[in-house]
Amino acid sequence: MREWTREKRLRTRSENGTLALGELITELLLPPKLVVLRGPLGAGKTTLVRGIAQALGADTADVSSPTFTLVQEYQGRKTKLYHIDLYRLENEQELEGIGLWEMADQDNVLVLVEWGDRFESVMERADAEILIGPGEVDNERLLLVHWRE
Ligand SMILES: Nc1ncnc2c1ncn2[C@@H]1O[C@H](COP(=O)(O)OP(=O)(O)OP(=O)(O)O)[C@@H](O)[C@H]1O
Ligand SMILES: [Mg+2]
Repeated sequence: MREWTREKRLRTRSENGTLALGELITELLLPPKLVVLRGPLGAGKTTLVRGIAQALGADTADVSSPTFTLVQEYQGRKTKLYHIDLYRLENEQELEGIGLWEMADQDNVLVLVEWGDRFESVMERADAEILIGPGEVDNERLLLVHWRE
C-alpha cells in the first residue's frame, strides 16, 4: 500500500461535534474521492458521513447506516456522495458486484466507505482514510485523517 504523506488529528466531544467536522473534512480532502472510514462498531463513522453530507449540501434527513442496503447515494450542491458499508461483504467478488470502482471513477463524486479496510483492494485504491477511535471520556472521539498530496 502506498504511504500517506499528510496527516491531521482532530478531536470531538459530542455527536454534534463530529457532525460539525464534516465541513472541515470536505475542505481538507479535496480532491480525494475514495475515502475509507475506519474504526470499531459505534465509533461514529456513519455520524461523520452525515456531517459530510450536510457540508456538501445534501438532504440528510434520512442518512442512516447502509449496513443492509450497502450503498446509499446523496446529491449535494456540486458533489454526489456515495455512502458504502462493507461490513457484511464476504469477498472480492461481492465487492466487484456493488460497482465501487465505477462510482469512484465518476467526476464530482465523493465515495465514503465504512469497513473498507476489510479489503486490501479498497485500501490500495483509497485516496484517504479517516480513523475514528474512542477518546478518554464518554462521547469523546479522536480522528486521524490520512491522505496524499
Ligand atoms: N463524539 C461522537 N461522535 C460520534 N458519535 C458519537 C459521539 N459521542 C457519542 N456518539 C454516539 O456513538 C454512536 C455512533 O454511531 P455510528 O452509527 O455513527 O457509528 P459507526 O462507526 O458508523 O458504527 P458501525 O460500525 O456499527 O456502522 C451514536 O450512537 C452516537 O450518538
Ligand atoms: Mg456505520
